[in-house]
Order: sequence, then structure tokens, then C-alpha cells
Amino acid sequence: MWGGGFACAPADVLAQINVSIGVDKRLYRQDIAGSIAHARMLAKQKIISQVDAKAIVAGLEGILNEIEAGKFVFKDALEDIHMNIEAALAERIGEAAGRLHTARSRNDQVATGFRLYVRDGIDALDAALKDLQQALVARAGEHAASLMPGFTHLQSAQPVTLGHHLLAYVEMFGRDRSRLADARKRLNESPLGAAALAGTSFPIDRHATAKSLGFDRPMENSLDAVSDRDFALEFLSAAAICAVHLSRLAEEFVLWSSAQFGFVRFSDSYSTGSSIMPQKRNPDAAELVRGKTGRIFGNLMALLTVMKALPLAYNKDMQEDKPPVFDTQDSIMLCVLAMAGMVRNFTADTPRMEKAAGSAYSNATDLADWLVRALDMPFRQAHHVTARLVKLAQEKQKTLEQLSLKEMQSVEPNIRAEIFSVLNLRDGVASRTSHGGTAPANVKKAVAEAKKRFGL
Ligand code: ARG
Repeated sequence: MWGGGFACAPADVLAQINVSIGVDKRLYRQDIAGSIAHARMLAKQKIISQVDAKAIVAGLEGILNEIEAGKFVFKDALEDIHMNIEAALAERIGEAAGRLHTARSRNDQVATGFRLYVRDGIDALDAALKDLQQALVARAGEHAASLMPGFTHLQSAQPVTLGHHLLAYVEMFGRDRSRLADARKRLNESPLGAAALAGTSFPIDRHATAKSLGFDRPMENSLDAVSDRDFALEFLSAAAICAVHLSRLAEEFVLWSSAQFGFVRFSDSYSTGSSIMPQKRNPDAAELVRGKTGRIFGNLMALLTVMKALPLAYNKDMQEDKPPVFDTQDSIMLCVLAMAGMVRNFTADTPRMEKAAGSAYSNATDLADWLVRALDMPFRQAHHVTARLVKLAQEKQKTLEQLSLKEMQSVEPNIRAEIFSVLNLRDGVASRTSHGGTAPANVKKAVAEAKKRFGL
């Protein structure tokens, strides 16, 4: 393709370091779409003949079918996807194939194909995240009133509902989707026609190719168009943040499915056994969702590092942009799908969760709040009094509600029998009706509201 002025073939090791077809063949569909849009525009602008354009388009469509049928032979000697397809086109239609590259370079060609690819990736990830939100919202509705301990520092803090806990993730994945949508808007401009770096003297119509590829407009600066990969970085960072959310939920599933917590159980289809310990049910899927964050973070760091000191415009270093993006796309898609499967699969041991919710003096805040409300005590003092009551209960090996009124009054004489009404676990949770609070009534409303807000 470029060997006209060269006296010999590249050294083996150069060919080896240069070749990217094994990786970038994934761009075939987007590369062909870009070429078809370019060929049609060239003909419309009378830069090539209609006859040649027709032959080019038909040839490219034939190649597309051949690739999708698994019959296309990708050749290492042809370096990358762009040259593989162009060479195949020449084999099919002869000389006219050579006119496709008029007013174009591989630099704007790859920038265009890669943008289209990342755009498709964003759309697929968004759909998968939406499905995960749907799974979470359904389980949250089912468990709007199921009590469980809420934690801070992984110490029992205050009881919450499982529905409320699951809805927290619906919000996180909603923000992940909005980050992707935001990145998509900035990505959606066409580099095609920037040519190698400086634009072209041919009378091309960049608006037309942008439009036919579904871009909002052509990119404004030809140097920028071929040399930035910020759209890929935005995808990688949005995916990395999403992976954090997935990993936190995965970690909770690992904890909750352990014998020590025993809050949830996964069916056989989401558990794996041990080859030596017959009693084991391991949450491998959750562990791998947690584990894959490593490569997803690494991929972001890899491309940031590739890009950070490149002089404008294109540099071959940028060929290293694809492996991290493909790997992140594969990994994050698998993680989201596996997570949706786990969310739909788990069964919750609600009696056990409720028992745990009531242990460890988790209603202490309700007691302190009563002191504030009924006795007009400043909260700091109420906190102090409650801490002494907890200590007394611990000494007597009782829960707070098992203390007698007399015992309570030995700490604070103004306490009345009415205090016991707020110590009941269920009533305590039901009372947390502030906006965004955990009360079952809130959770039911929040489920309906989330469905509307996220279009679930
Ligand atoms: N395979 C190359 C890449 O992914 C295509 C662009 C090559 N451009 C060039 N001037 N050598 O970056």
C-alpha cells in the first residue's frame, strides 16, 4: 500500500511490532461504513465517477458479508483492518478500489472507525446497565419492607430495608449511564475528511459524510480530529467508575452469601463448588466482577499514558489505543451481565437479616431521638445518656427494649414508658420517612419514581 518508494520489505521484527490486524479486525463494520460514506460523497462531489463509487460500495458490502460469514482471510502482511479491506476490495473490483483513498488518509479513517466503534460500545453498555437497573428495581420492590442491618465501618449502624439498599445502586448505575450519555455527545463529531492531518484540496463535503454516519457535525480542526483519543479516555473512565460501583455490590454479595452473614443465597446456577471441600458454595461471579476492576482501571491508565506526551498530530503510538478499549468493553459488559444475573438470582433470608438488623443496639439512635423529641434534650446530651443505657444493657446482657423502665430511669429519671414504642425495630425503620430515607413507604414510592426517571 505504501511501498512504492521502498527497496525492501520491513524487517521481521518491524512487521511484528507494526501489525495490528489481530486486534483491530474488530473495527471491520465501522471501517466499511466509513468507506461507504466516503465513496458516496466523493461521487456526489464529482471527485470520482458514479460508476466507480457503485463498484466500491458493492465491493465493500460483499466484503462485509464475507467477514460476517467468517470466510474472510485476514492477512498479517497487510498490517491492519484498513489495508486488509482495501486490498480485498482491489481483488474484487480492480483499479476503481484505488480511488477510494482519494482525499482520505488512514489517520482520519481510523479515527472515524474507532469513534463509531466506541459509540456502539457506549450504546451497548447503556442498554446493559438499564437492564441491570430494571433487575435491581424489581428486587427492591419485592424487598421494600425487608429489614437488614445498615452498616458504617462494616459495623451494624442502623436498620435499613434491603429495597433501600438495592435502590442505592440504581442511582449509581443511573449516574454511570448519564456519564456515558455525556461522553457520547462529545464523541459524536466526525473526523472524516481531516485526511492525514491538514485537510485536503479536493472539494469534499464533510457535513454530508458526518450526517450519513450519524455524527452531529464534522470536527472543527483537522489536527485535533486525527490526533485526540479523549473520546476513548472518557469511555474508559466512565467504565472505570462504573466498575467501582459493580465491584462494591459484588463485594457485598460475597459478604452476604458467606455463612457468617447468611443474608443471601445464590442458586446452583450462580454458585461454584470446591474440588476438595464438598460443603462449599463459592460466589465466583461476584468475585470476578470485583476482580475485573483491576484490568478496567489499568486500561484507563494505559491509554492516558500512551497519549500524554504525543506531539500533534497522528503518531503510531496511538495504535495502542484499541487493546485497552476492547478489553474494557468486553470486561465491563460481562460484569454488568453477570451482575444482572446475580441480582435476579439471589434469594434473601429475610428472618435472618431481620434478626441481624435488631442486634448490636441498632435502635440506639431511635432512643436518643426520643430523648430529644420527648424530653427536649440537646442531641449531644441524648447521645451521652443513650451510650450509658447501652452500656447498662450490655452489662445485663439485654437488648435496649429488654431494660425495665426502672433500669432506664436509673440513668435518666425523666424517661417514660412511652419510650418503648420507638424501640421496636420495624417502627423505627418505618419512621425514617425523610426524603431519600429508608422507610418501606418511601422505598415503594422510590421504586415507582426510579422507573419513571430512568425510563425502566
Ligand atoms: N492501524 C493504525 C492505527 O490504528 C491505522 C493508522 C495508521 N496510520 C499511519 N499513518 N500509519 O493507528
